[in-house]
This record gives sequence, structure tokens and C-alpha cells, in this order.
Amino acid sequence: MRKILIPIDGSPVSVKAAEKAVTLGKLIDGELTFITVVNMPSEDKYSFFGINVEKQFTANLKEMLKKLIEEETKMLRVVVKNLNTGTLKVEQRVIVGNPAAEIVKLAEEENFEYIFMGRRGFSKAERFFIGSVTQKVIAASPCPVIVVN
Ligand SMILES: Nc1ncnc2c1ncn2[C@@H]1O[C@H](COP(=O)(O)OP(=O)(O)O)[C@@H](O)[C@H]1O
Ligand SMILES: [Mg+2]
Repeated sequence: MRKILIPIDGSPVSVKAAEKAVTLGKLIDGELTFITVVNMPSEDKYSFFGINVEKQFTANLKEMLKKLIEEETKMLRVVVKNLNTGTLKVEQRVIVGNPAAEIVKLAEEENFEYIFMGRRGFSKAERFFIGSVTQKVIAASPCPVIVVN
């Protein structure tokens, strides 16, 4: 099976990239894997400065992470449901970590043939030509990355 990886952050352009991926998927009888990475602010940052965060803070982070995973899972389900994937094999994953690193790791470990993603995501900062996640994935990806505008 020819595997296509589609990172989704919920932005309109990531959905557009997904539509292009579906088109290719149908042409090559591919298998689509949608991935959303939940980026977590970590307490490691504080311990690095020798600050002991309060137990309550850690508990709140865990609770927040749980909520984020739930919300992102819902978001991804809605995005995929609205795509016309027909009879294509489709998989959805929500994982926690650094978005670019997790996307590249998955592409490497599971031998994806293509990655489809947006040039931008949610950031409004036009001073950057390309989003940082996309930039990092292009730089480190083991397979071709199709960047959609
Ligand atoms: N957390 C994420 N999980 C999955 N895909 C992501 C994530 N963040 C960004 N992407 C992908 O990377 C593309 C570019 O986003 P990004 O580099 O974050 O730009 P921006 O700085 O505008 O948010 C998105 O269109 C999406 O395809
Ligand atoms: Mg972003």
C-alpha cells in the first residue's frame, strides 16, 4: 500500500492540503494517515531555571493536555469526515509532542511515500514566508513534501 501522511492543524490551508492528498490517494490507490500533534507547554522549562512548579500547576497541565487531546481528536474527526475519501483506507492519529519532530519521525518509521501539508497554519505573522512546522518538515523529511498554498 502506498502511504500518504497528512498533518492537520485544523487551519483551512491544512484542509486544502488534505483535499490534494485525497486526489493523489485515489490516483495511486494510496492509504491516508491524518496526524494532529498536540504541542504541550512543559514544566521542564521551569525546572531548567531551578524553579519548582507547584503540584497544582502540574495537575493543571495534565488536565489541560487531556482536554487538548479531546478537542484535537474531535477537530480531526470533523476534518476527515468532510473529505470525500470514498473507499480509500484512512487512519487518524492524535499524538503529543513537537509537531515537526513527530511528523518526520512517523514518516521515517512507517515509510511514508509523501507528506501533504499547508505552507502556513494559524499564524498571522506574514513576516515569515513559510510556517515553522512546514519549514522543519521540509528540512528533515525522508520523503517528498507537497506544500499547499
Ligand atoms: N500541530 C500540528 N499538527 C499537525 N500538523 C500541523 C501542526 N502544526 C502545523 N501543522 C501543519 O503544518 C502546516 C503549516 O503550519 P505552521 O508551520 O505551524 O505555520 P504557522 O506558523 O502559520 O502556524 C499546517 O498547514 C499543517 O499542515
Ligand atoms: Mg502553526
